[in-house]
Amino acid sequence: MTMVTPHFSVLSEDFAADPYRYFAPLREQAPVHYEPAIDSYFLSRYHDVKRVLTDHRAFSTETLQVRAEPVMRGPVLAQMTGAEHTAKRKIVVRSFTGQALHDQMRAIHANAAELIAPFLPRGRVDLVNDFGRPLAVHVTLDVLGLDKQDWRQVAAWHSGVAEFITSITLTAERRRHCLDCAEQLEAYLVPLIEQRRHRPGDDLISKLCTAEFDGITMDNREVTALVINVLAAATEPADKTLALLFKHLIDHPEQMAQVRQDPNLLTAAIAETLRYTPPVQLIPRQVEQDAVFADITIPAVATVFCMIGAANRDPDAFTTPDTFDIHRPDLGTTRSFTAAAQHLAFGTGLHQCVGASFARAEIETVAAILLPLLDQVRHTPGCHYQETGLYTRGPASLSLDFSPTRETVPGHE
Ligand code: HEM
Repeated sequence: MTMVTPHFSVLSEDFAADPYRYFAPLREQAPVHYEPAIDSYFLSRYHDVKRVLTDHRAFSTETLQVRAEPVMRGPVLAQMTGAEHTAKRKIVVRSFTGQALHDQMRAIHANAAELIAPFLPRGRVDLVNDFGRPLAVHVTLDVLGLDKQDWRQVAAWHSGVAEFITSITLTAERRRHCLDCAEQLEAYLVPLIEQRRHRPGDDLISKLCTAEFDGITMDNREVTALVINVLAAATEPADKTLALLFKHLIDHPEQMAQVRQDPNLLTAAIAETLRYTPPVQLIPRQVEQDAVFADITIPAVATVFCMIGAANRDPDAFTTPDTFDIHRPDLGTTRSFTAAAQHLAFGTGLHQCVGASFARAEIETVAAILLPLLDQVRHTPGCHYQETGLYTRGPASLSLDFSPTRETVPGHE
């Protein structure tokens, strides 16, 4: 087995190349791993991670004040607590569930059909860069009610914002670039927010503008922060999950055949993808009072990173955790997108992802469109598969070959 030596670092190139190789040794030999360069602790055991995410008093989201607020241009949902958090979270949740979610599915269908069309006669697509990433941005822009013509620009600003939040270390130059992106995104959003205030529609921005909290509506700064929060939170993990789903199914042809035959299995396949390779690998918290894990005391105000990938592969939570199995009895498919989920890909507790059921519907809809169109889908020969990212992680690209077709998506010309 790989050893966690005293020189081991989660900031090393070795770890970045394949963190999964280190998860078992970390859980067994260094369940509380200290990283001196960034003065932070890393927890890898399922039950320790669950404890941090559910004990809101002892482990707070204060870390986000430094990690997210500067690029969100205001306080973000995940760092709020109490009545303010409950009220604002409800407004966002309402836009991503129930009728609002149902209404969005038609737009998702149309977006997916349009984006995949040019690749069908060619028989080759990079599922990340040609399809998944633009799709996730388009879908989020639809929800927010923003003009899709601007998507490349919005995506570029957004990637600066995401880089700021998800970088463990950042040079002064990159930091400046990220803050510039955030400022420009804010300058783009504020006039649109003002428009919606005067002429509200059905979109999330209008809802945020018109919603009342303690009798007071949110000001532009608060709406901007929530919009950037949703933009940052909704796009990256969704496109990574779609690519990882296809990779795992291609690598497990018998499970691919079963899903093709019974598309109802897609829910389990997505849930298992989230357990096996969660796109959000780290969730930070601040320790509010000294806390003991595996006989080691983590001092108050220290930062802890919950290692979601390692927790989801803990044999204390899942049998044969390193096997991708959409039929695993301990997956709890129907619960996987709710507060009772066994896997921790959406986090858990008070700050659990508000977009879980939206993400499920989005990925299910898109995969159900793609699977019948991508006949004989396989990795493009000679393409080297590589995942990147420590905080959010997914394939840098996923080039796939399939039988070229002149077909179009049913219901879309
Ligand atoms: C497969 C896709 C997704 C994954 C794996 C994912 C993962 C997560 C995780 C791990 C958190 C918890 C962070 C923490 O505890 O600090 C979170 C929070 C959040 N997510 Fe997602 N997410 C996904 C899709 C979405 C979508 C589609 C939306 C759209 C709205 C969204 C919006 C949010 C928001 C607003 C929060 C902050 C919630 C709060 O603090 O109350 N996410 N997400």
